[in-house]
Amino acid sequence: MIIDILTLFPEMYNGVFTESIIKRAVEEDKVKINIHNFRDYSTDPHHKVDDTPYGGGAGMVLTCQPIFDCVKNLRKENSKVILLTPDGVLYKEKMAYDLSQEKHLILICGHYEGFDERIRSICDLEISIGDYVLTGGEIPSMVLVDSIVRLIPGVIEEESHLNDSFNDNLLDYPTYTKPRVYEGMEVPEVLVSGDHKRINEFRENERLKRTKERRPDLLD
Ligand code: ADE
Repeated sequence: MIIDILTLFPEMYNGVFTESIIKRAVEEDKVKINIHNFRDYSTDPHHKVDDTPYGGGAGMVLTCQPIFDCVKNLRKENSKVILLTPDGVLYKEKMAYDLSQEKHLILICGHYEGFDERIRSICDLEISIGDYVLTGGEIPSMVLVDSIVRLIPGVIEEESHLNDSFNDNLLDYPTYTKPRVYEGMEVPEVLVSGDHKRINEFRENERLKRTKERRPDLLD
């Protein structure tokens, strides 16, 4: 998979994709992540990328030209162009899974007060990572990349994400490691019983119990 990210703040990505699982996925050529500063595409003599809003109002608005030209340059037949915006569809694990099957993603990070509405016309999908407003699409794009790349086949063991929270509308079951007793808190007996049928039943029950307690909305 190739992921191209369009941003005005490429330095925000320093370190994010060069550690842990994403780093390994890049090294093993499971994914190639390119960061593009779309200011480089501005035809304005001063490399301007924004302007005042028609009709008046506060702040600056990202103009069409640099983003259109950058996307034109990168887009291939099988590309999926995604705009990160608080008014996009709410991001869910199912979307991460679907996007992990794509060959090429182009992520556009908005900034400032907003972007020219016509930028939406070149996007296949608009995504919000939650009902809150961030200063730009950079952190949301990192969230997308992290959640998508871990689902690319071969990046982590498939078993690790089969029981992930949200995978089948249930939260994950609780896990424990050594020691068996820590500050008086004991590991549930069933987990040291060696009885795999009972262990699986315990885990399934815990997933259901947890989801009912913490996220009953997932069961609707
Ligand atoms: N840009 C600013 N806030 C955002 C959000 N919640 N999701 C996606 N992009 C954003």
